[in-house]
Amino acid sequence: MNALSSFGQPVRAAVVGASGGIGGALVAQLAADPGVETVYAFSRKPAATAEKVVPGQMDTDDEASVAAAAEDLATAAPLGLVIVASGLLHDGEALQPEKSFRHLEAAALTRSFQVNSIGPALVAKHFLPLLYRERKAVFAALSARVGSIGDNRLGGWYGYRAAKAALNMTIRCLAIEVARNRKQTVCVGLHPGTVDSRLSQPFQRGVAQEKLFSPATAAGHLLTVVDGLTPEDSGKVFAWDCREIPP
Ligand SMILES: NC(=O)c1ccc[n+]([C@@H]2O[C@H](COP(=O)([O-])OP(=O)(O)OC[C@H]3O[C@@H](n4cnc5c(N)ncnc54)[C@H](OP(=O)(O)O)[C@@H]3O)[C@@H](O)[C@H]2O)c1
Repeated sequence: MNALSSFGQPVRAAVVGASGGIGGALVAQLAADPGVETVYAFSRKPAATAEKVVPGQMDTDDEASVAAAAEDLATAAPLGLVIVASGLLHDGEALQPEKSFRHLEAAALTRSFQVNSIGPALVAKHFLPLLYRERKAVFAALSARVGSIGDNRLGGWYGYRAAKAALNMTIRCLAIEVARNRKQTVCVGLHPGTVDSRLSQPFQRGVAQEKLFSPATAAGHLLTVVDGLTPEDSGKVFAWDCREIPP
């Protein structure tokens, strides 16, 4: 099945964070899709995977590695889709989501902003110029519902929430700027739902089984959202069920 039929022609896609639960599932589904020509799968430690998948090295902490990855694609045909699926909620050790303002620490906040906001912004800087100008093209970054200021009723998770809110603002700025000369490029944030991955693993207790998506299910949802996007959607954040999330 061609999950990206709205793009009109075979798509060349890039996924950043290909070693992650959701990123890996996105790469697998894109590679299996007859409407996708090539998938560039970027991660900190690239690994060979399926046919049509071209692994590449990228550490979003290091702008030179983001620039080098983009440079490698600059002479190839344009991309139709870039999905940034990297992100960080905890590191299993020192970095844990804060339950109270008393737990705020500069190093942990800096780390969260580095991975969740600055990294995707640098990917946009180097990869937006690689997208098609005259056809539908999508730049999507995995955000999170908890990054919505309007939707925040529980508090906590200061660093992760604030970093995703900053990512959402970057996406809005990108959409405004890009619309001036790339009328068919759509920049969005995507919330995948709660997905069974390394990132969510310590926080899955209390999540109903039917609300905990496998990475494959989440990837399917996200590609459906991407396929339905139009230029009017640019700058917004959408959940897995295609519903817009308030800023
Ligand atoms: N899982 C959920 O329930 C959920 C809910 C809402 C939003 N999200 C968002 O969805 C995205 C994907 O999450 P996931 O569940 O797939 O988590 P995951 O399995 O932990 O994957 C995270 C990915 O981010 C990569 N990454 C971290 N720091 C990086 C860096 N400096 N440079 C390059 N890559 C880096 C990791 O690479 P390494 O393998 O090298 O560490 C890994 O590929 C994240 O943005 C997350 O915030 C997830």
